[in-house]
Amino acid sequence: MAIERTFSIIKPDATKRNLTGAINDRFEKAGLRIVAQKRIQMTEAQAKKFYEVHAARPFYGELVSFMISGPVVVQVLEGEGAVLKNREIMGATNPADAADGTIRKDFAESIEANSVHGSDSLENAAIEIAYFFAGSEIVG
Ligand code: CMP
Repeated sequence: MAIERTFSIIKPDATKRNLTGAINDRFEKAGLRIVAQKRIQMTEAQAKKFYEVHAARPFYGELVSFMISGPVVVQVLEGEGAVLKNREIMGATNPADAADGTIRKDFAESIEANSVHGSDSLENAAIEIAYFFAGSEIVG
């Protein structure tokens, strides 16, 4: 399988509980390399645009409020089949459906406060990475 890059967010529920290191440990143990990372406070405008695809969904407003409720860690993860691999490590969106040993099963509080975001395709990964990182900030 090809070496890919995917975009990841450690969400406010996880940064609040000091879980950044524990979550990064899951990525690294699974063979993903953190090739870019920064802790930021997202603005409302940034969060709205990032989740624009969900704008018509009933949870959009709360999702945006949650994502700006505290710091997040935005990341680029690199490795073999990184997009799919990261989705396996994260587990299902709803922690109630997430498999044992996944980040969301072990750390998520709810479908909204679900600790991590990961790109759902290689195409979206490229768009999401470019939204938060300049090329010079990614060091493989
Ligand atoms: P994420 O992968 O960041 O993409 C969109 C987010 O919306 C999702 O994770 C969830 O945290 C959040 N969300 C909140 N409510 C729902 C819902 N009912 N269905 C799907 N996603 C939801």
